[in-house]
Amino acid sequence: MAAIRDTLIDYLRDAYAMEQQAISMIDRQLERLESYPDFTARLRQHRDETEHQVERLETALHRLGTDSSALKTMGAKLSANMQAMMNIFASDEVIKDLLASYTLEQWEIVNYKVLIQTAQAAGEVEIQRLAEESLREEEAMASWIDSQIPIITRSFLSRFEAGGQQAAR
Ligand SMILES: [Fe+2]
Repeated sequence: MAAIRDTLIDYLRDAYAMEQQAISMIDRQLERLESYPDFTARLRQHRDETEHQVERLETALHRLGTDSSALKTMGAKLSANMQAMMNIFASDEVIKDLLASYTLEQWEIVNYKVLIQTAQAAGEVEIQRLAEESLREEEAMASWIDSQIPIITRSFLSRFEAGGQQAAR
């Protein structure tokens, strides 16, 4: 049981770093995007949800008598910013944002599913419940992005064809 509990703490810390990375990435995207208001609005909403997810992870770590690891958080923020920087140089920045966002949501979904099973194995029902709440938000975000891929792609292509300077973002 002690080993499972330690594993659960590791997974909670990983998820905490992951959500810090998510907030950094959303912030960079919100700073840049101008021509895709639906995408921007949903990103804003998901940023709020992600802050709640961070709070849930803090609550879970406290329950286990530990707290978040500052070191991992810094590394994650750095890689999120590097990812965002790469997108800035793309002539189809909004498409790269879609790719990055959808990939991140899938990554988060797997992490929460693993977290839920580990919490259950550790007998931590409250932590399991918190992770399930976050999982539902990640799944909703992933399916929203999925539904927007054709819409945003067509919008990008028609702006790009019309020669709009802001087509990329
Ligand atoms: Fe997310």
